[in-house]
Amino acid sequence: MNKMDFPAARSFALNPGAEPGSPEALAPYQDYGDRSYSTDRYVSREWAKREWDNMWTRIWTLAGVAKDIPEVGDYFKYDLGPESFIVTRHGTGPNDISAYYNVCHHRGNRLVMSEFGHAASFKCAFHSWEWNLDGTLKNIQDRETFRTAVVADDPPLSQVRCELWDGFIFINMDLNAGPLLDFIGPLVEHMKAYRFADMHVVKDLETPWPCNWKIGHDAFIEVYHVHAVHPEILSFFNDREVQWDTYPNGMSRQLLKFGEISPKLDDHETLNEGLKYLLSEVDVTPEQFRGQPNDARRVLQEAKRAWAAKRGIDYSEFTDNQLTDDWNYSIFPNVTFNAHPEGLLIQRFRPHRSDPEQMTYDLLVLIRPVDDPNYKVPAYMGVEDGTDLSGKVRPERMHIKYGDDGLGYVINQDASMMGYVHQGVQSRGYKGARYSDQEQQLRHWHNELELYVKGEK
Ligand code: FES
Ligand SMILES: [Fe+2]
Repeated sequence: MNKMDFPAARSFALNPGAEPGSPEALAPYQDYGDRSYSTDRYVSREWAKREWDNMWTRIWTLAGVAKDIPEVGDYFKYDLGPESFIVTRHGTGPNDISAYYNVCHHRGNRLVMSEFGHAASFKCAFHSWEWNLDGTLKNIQDRETFRTAVVADDPPLSQVRCELWDGFIFINMDLNAGPLLDFIGPLVEHMKAYRFADMHVVKDLETPWPCNWKIGHDAFIEVYHVHAVHPEILSFFNDREVQWDTYPNGMSRQLLKFGEISPKLDDHETLNEGLKYLLSEVDVTPEQFRGQPNDARRVLQEAKRAWAAKRGIDYSEFTDNQLTDDWNYSIFPNVTFNAHPEGLLIQRFRPHRSDPEQMTYDLLVLIRPVDDPNYKVPAYMGVEDGTDLSGKVRPERMHIKYGDDGLGYVINQDASMMGYVHQGVQSRGYKGARYSDQEQQLRHWHNELELYVKGEK
């Protein structure tokens, strides 16, 4: 087995023979040197303003899921920093989705207040100005009382760019931005096999965290903290043989091997409870298991193919590694995808409307439909027992207070650190981040952020 050798080997290669450019290929290491990273990015209002002006208003961000607005007139609200948007289906074609600033042209009231809804038109609750789903003006109450010039332009709703990637709706406030798929780049090809557009939402929650949005996000593009914060996972996660890849536009990923014991644990002889549990999910009992505990990953891969074939699920487009591992993507600037053949766990980190010391954490879980009434989603998807998996019921968004249970065991462990880290980075005794190569995604990510904030991108 290859052992990672820091710093000579910058990344483990999951499949050293992978064709360059193919989904499993190791991307060339990008050397950002060894400098430290300033702390003002987490706390300063000046930094937050430049971040908003130079990045957020010019970049594609994930607004939501197309399956959540299947009918003409369905909409959802997407709040980002000080802005709010309405994303709505105005026609029956797959791309007949538009996004508008959620604001009335009369005196600036928000047009929609609910997170999801259905409307024939958008009518302001203050003085009843009204717009069609396609954004054109429908009616101005008592129009004859306005001087002609005031409303001569029949103001349409202010539109933002809106494009789709495999069932996900992204928006961009920059009307001259390049196409979404060019921005996402090679990740589009990497994740083709997952067919996200076929999946549906089974879990949706949001919670405020007492930290800058980047403190939250930083913790999810490295697994260096796993041994300390999530030690339970080490029984079935090899945290030292991780493939890290960086891509254009701040994108990156880590490929995380499940079904192998961490080298940080001493016992590699016993088939531990973590591995037993993973095996049980694909109907392999400890008695049936043959080989050493670290053979579990291979056994899982074979069993998963057989398990899926028995249920008529097509896993033929997935590599063996994709069947067991967590393909964990960072979609710049504020989203991570944990992709598995069974589904996708999305985390989104949104800046607060005015305070750089607060953020909103969003968790969305989508699953691939399985026609089996006894189907249970693997535990790593974080879906509670008893959840309706049929796709017929779209679960309501849960709003969870900071510190309350509800995020799930593992993410609660992460969440509990965030407030302390945010306080710590403000200390006069702290001189800025020192990253290891295990945190190379952080260097890549923060370098990209700085390009925007300095006005170089
Ligand atoms: S603010 Fe919307 S109609 Fe007056
Ligand atoms: Fe974590």
